[in-house]
This record gives sequence, structure tokens and C-alpha cells, in this order.
Amino acid sequence: MPRFILCAVALQVRADLPSYSDMMDSRPDSRVLPSSRHPTAPAPGTRRGELADSVLEELWFGDEDPERPRYEASRSLAAAVARIEGLRPFPMAAQKLLTLLSDPGYRMSEVRAVMESDPALAARTLNVANSPLFRGLSPCRSIDQAIVRLGARNVRDLAVGIAAMSMFASADAASKRLRDHCVGVAAIARIVADTAMRREASSLFLSGLMHDAGKLLLLQTGEMTYGAEVDDDAAHEETSLIERARLGYDHAVLGAHVMKLWRIPDPTAMLVAWHHQPARALAMGGDTALMVALLRAADHIEHRLALDGDLDAETCRRLGEDAAWTYADLGQGDLRELWPQMKEARREMLAALGG
Ligand SMILES: [Fe+2]
Ligand SMILES: [Fe+2]
Repeated sequence: MPRFILCAVALQVRADLPSYSDMMDSRPDSRVLPSSRHPTAPAPGTRRGELADSVLEELWFGDEDPERPRYEASRSLAAAVARIEGLRPFPMAAQKLLTLLSDPGYRMSEVRAVMESDPALAARTLNVANSPLFRGLSPCRSIDQAIVRLGARNVRDLAVGIAAMSMFASADAASKRLRDHCVGVAAIARIVADTAMRREASSLFLSGLMHDAGKLLLLQTGEMTYGAEVDDDAAHEETSLIERARLGYDHAVLGAHVMKLWRIPDPTAMLVAWHHQPARALAMGGDTALMVALLRAADHIEHRLALDGDLDAETCRRLGEDAAWTYADLGQGDLRELWPQMKEARREMLAALGG
């Protein structure tokens, strides 16, 4: 059995759980978890009830009691999303850009007007568009140029990710380290996507930026504190299990639902939801499984780069044999070749977006 599968099963999915496809097959409408069957579910017609009804099973994880996840989902996750919705409305300029740039017939004058309404967002977007990770042969001097050079989707995903990260500006050390980790994963994921897929680099950059947004939200609401596990790869994986035991959901599922609420386009929410549920992604197969694997590989690599940045023989063996890395048909040679590029891209992206 490929190591990716073994790791996924060992880390995330208990053997007694129904498979994702079993759950999909056994439910008449498997996309939405109905909250109204449980006696203490949020009342229908209330905002909390609406949110509970919108909890998506495809982003959730299973349980041996088929009623329990519905109850947990409607109770704990909807409550958290409702708190965050009240606490953190998504920036208006980013919302407008999402709508405008998702339409192939967008008008440049409208995009320009939105960017001018939020000069900080425009400046940061241009700054990143001009970083070596994105830039072509000559620099972009305006958002118009950036859209022409990078494409509307790249600029949309950049602006949305930058706007989302700006919501987590905070002086505390754990938040700062987590934000930097997300920025680093975004840069690494973009390089890995360029190598392994030659497309979807935009989606993986945005997913990297957002992948641990759920942790930043849990820090802000005071529901979790994070210590050494922010820097430790193995502890980072265990953290999602601790969150599930304590809260009934983990940061990945929470972040994905908040992204749905903010209308951040697919496949970001699904990649974020599944970055600690690789077995789900594997069951889906295709680009989704590959993108989740690449996101996980970037996550693991960033933890190493944040520690000292060197690729010694033992690190090369460990990361080169990482199930997420090998799933993308990459080996230790690819890791050695890409390491300086990933290290530099992470450093540059931290200079542009970190802190
Ligand atoms: Fe995570
Ligand atoms: Fe992470």
C-alpha cells in the first residue's frame, strides 16, 4: 500500500469510520448536514440555524454514530462560524474584487475603482505581484498591468488572500508565527504546483495562505492557544486531533466553512478542509487529491525551513519520502533541486506579506 495511504489512515481516519463514498452514497442530499433532526439543534429560521443547515458534509469528517456529526456540526461549528461572522466580516474591497474578477467579462475601470477604495490592499497586491515568485520580465506598475500580465484569476486570488491575512494582524507571538507559516506555505505551494502540476498554482497559493486561517480564528476567539506545535510538524498534525476532541471540529474544517461564508471560490475551501484529512482527498482522486498532497507537502517543508532552512541528508530522506511528496511523483532529487528556490520564495514572500 502506498505510504500516503498508510499515513492518511494512521493519522486521520479511524478504520471503523464509514468511507467518504459510503457516506455520499447513503444520503439523499449528502452535501448539507441537516441540523433539524437533533432535538437540541439550532432553531430553524435563526441565523445560527441557517449556518447549521449550511454545514457541508463534504468538508466535514465522519463519525461512527451517523447522528453525532450532524449534531456536533450544527451545534459547535455553526456557533463558531456565527461568532466569527459577527467578529470578522470579510473586507468589502476583497468581496467586490471576488465578484468582479470571477466574471470573465469584468471591466477594468470597475476593478480599478475597487482597488482605489482600498489603497493598502492595492499596494500589497502590487508588491506581491512584483515579487520574483509572480513577476515576469518587467515589473507591474499598476493593477491593470498586473491583471494583464498575471491574469484576472491570479490577481483575484492574490488580493483575496492578502485581504484575509490582513484580518489576522495581531501583536501576539503565536499569531505572528502562524501568519508567517501561512505565507511561507503559500510561497512553497506555488513553486511545488508549478513543478508538479503546471497549473492551479494560483489555487495552491491562496490555499496555502488560508490553510491554517482556522487556527488564527480560534486564537482570536480565545478557544485555543497554540504553543510549540506551531513550529513542530508532528505536533502540528496532532493539533487537529486535539481540536476535534475539545471543540468537535478542527481548524481545517472551521477555516473552510468560514471561507465558504466569505464566498472564496473553489477549490480553496475543500483543499483547506482536507489538509488534515488526506484520506478524503485520496478518495476523491484527480486534481483534488494531488492539490491536497502538494499543500500538505508544502506545509511539512515550511516547518523545516522555518527551523533552520538547511536540507541535510536526514531531512532530505524524511521529506523526500513524505507520502504527500511522493504522491505527486516527486523524489529526493526534486526536493534538492527545488530547495533553494523554495527557501528564497519563502523569504521574499515573508518580506512582502509577513509579520
Ligand atoms: Fe493545519
Ligand atoms: Fe500548517
